[in-house]
Amino acid sequence: MVAMLHFWLYLSKARVDPRSVDDARIYLEARDNNAAHAITGYLHREDGCYVQYVEGPKTALDRLRRGIVRDWRHDDLRVLSEGLIPVRRFSGWDMAFTIEETTSFRRYQARRGVELDIANASKAEILRFMTEMIATGQARSVAEAA
Ligand SMILES: Cc1cc2nc3c(=O)[nH]c(=O)nc-3n(C[C@H](O)[C@H](O)[C@H](O)COP(=O)(O)O)c2cc1C
Repeated sequence: MVAMLHFWLYLSKARVDPRSVDDARIYLEARDNNAAHAITGYLHREDGCYVQYVEGPKTALDRLRRGIVRDWRHDDLRVLSEGLIPVRRFSGWDMAFTIEETTSFRRYQARRGVELDIANASKAEILRFMTEMIATGQARSVAEAA
């Protein structure tokens, strides 16, 4: 039997400023914790929102989710998708990330002629963006960010 992985995709409202120390700490925590717990994923920040996809073994992911849901650095968290997958989408990325200043979801969507606003985008559009930013070398890894 294949051990299934769990994934979680959500959008939230940031309560800390972009490129602030508080914002930067999120990436450092992901760098320090995710590899140790076999968590991989992707975090994007735009329009005052975080959108994050995380995947991994159920116990580790549940623990991370409980921490993220309580985290004071964001609120209005809305789950866009969750479930089981047989293989990782972001294998090798303890946390891939992009920010709007260099890699804007809005600009990506405009080129494709679809919904621009990240807060109204579908799960499929967000995952397509993340996957393509990795495929085209535009995403960075938290492992090399600090
Ligand atoms: C938008 C956002 C994304 C986060 N992503 C992660 C992550 O990928 N990994 C992680 O360990 N912590 C992440 N955190 C931080 C966790 O909420 C939590 O503070 C951290 O895991 C430390 O938890 P602990 O004190 O229980 O060890 C994130 C926080 C926010 C606000």
